[in-house]
Amino acid sequence: MKYMGHKGRIVSAISDQIEELVSEAHALADPFCGSGIVAWTLAERFDLPVLAGDLQSFAAARAASVVERNAPVEDVTFVDRWFQRAERIIADTIESRRIPETPNAEIAGKYKIARASVERTREYLDRTLSDILRNSGHKWPITLAYAGYYFSVQQALTFDALRATLPKKKAERTVALSALIGAASRCSGSPGHTAQPLGISEGSLPHLLEAWNRSVFNAVREEVSKIAPRHAKVEGETSVGSWEMLCDRLAPGDVVFCDPPYSDVQYSRFYHVLETLSRGSVIDVSGTGRNPPFAERPESEFSRKSKALAEAEKLLQHAADRELRLVITFPISRQSNGLAAQTFSKKASKYFGRIQSQEVTSTFSSLGGNGSNGRRPARVAKVERIICCYDG
Ligand SMILES: C[S@@+](CC[C@H](N)C(=O)[O-])C[C@H]1O[C@@H](n2cnc3c(N)ncnc32)[C@H](O)[C@@H]1O
Repeated sequence: MKYMGHKGRIVSAISDQIEELVSEAHALADPFCGSGIVAWTLAERFDLPVLAGDLQSFAAARAASVVERNAPVEDVTFVDRWFQRAERIIADTIESRRIPETPNAEIAGKYKIARASVERTREYLDRTLSDILRNSGHKWPITLAYAGYYFSVQQALTFDALRATLPKKKAERTVALSALIGAASRCSGSPGHTAQPLGISEGSLPHLLEAWNRSVFNAVREEVSKIAPRHAKVEGETSVGSWEMLCDRLAPGDVVFCDPPYSDVQYSRFYHVLETLSRGSVIDVSGTGRNPPFAERPESEFSRKSKALAEAEKLLQHAADRELRLVITFPISRQSNGLAAQTFSKKASKYFGRIQSQEVTSTFSSLGGNGSNGRRPARVAKVERIICCYDG
């Protein structure tokens, strides 16, 4: 899954560093688990339970789908039954009503017609469909908040219906929910994250319509086929909440992987669509990003420039007091929340006897750059430091 700060490219270097520190550990932890990629990798590699958490429930749900299982889900026929249940509640709810068709990719070339079609869809949602859905006896949070913007009406109904009819058995349910979140990330008509949907200007509309024509069912199926075979060696746990809450459940010698935010903008501004899907509750939205109210968005002190340094120090002190071992990743250059890798290395020397660090370079797409005419290069190098802090 695409995620800001995703550690997929350096996960093997991280897990090699953790290997050096696990001799005394009863458990490993990833309290800022995000996409879940590091928690998955640690759970697959080590004979120790992994405890993963995040302020955002969709992140914990992604981690849970591998971390909480110690065997593969071999029989994926539950997917067909799940899809049938979802199709049934959509059919029952919309009955014989004529929902506007999703404008197809060919129409995108005829700008005025395509734009009018999107506008008609939005009007239909506001004037007709939202009342039908609110009185249907099921919850349709994705359709009510995001259809006509991040998703076509058909995609949004499908996400809601799949969310409402998840399998009951625990292993299948966690795989299904995680796959649904992964599919929403892939199908969303937005650039990489969901701070704002693609617009309906002449330049953006073809991209929006391309996204609206992605098959939710296919995306879910592909996600299930990737997640179902993966599993932990030892069953772990996941939770939604702050790093402190998770660290308080650990014992001396346990190893904590820490990948806190770098940005002074809250993650919840970028990922509210996935969070709404994971929570499954109807929300009011506002603004061009169709954001939920602030009270419903998880907030981190790491993403407040005035508080981030104190929060970093609190994390180090808290871990040292509990005799935990830390493996921290952070970019070497100063980030918008005011922190840099050096901030952690310097502060850590106050609390830990041993600090070792290693720099790792990874390249990533600059989202649209092509490197010519002095423009942004197509691929950008990012240097991060892996900092290990421990005593003895
Ligand atoms: C840099 S991202 C982690 C990326 C993750 N390691 C990956 O590879 O996908 C930071 C994460 O920390 C979470 N977060 C921010 N503040 C937090 C806090 N106080 N406690 C727990 N999680 C927090 C954010 O929601 C975000 O998912």
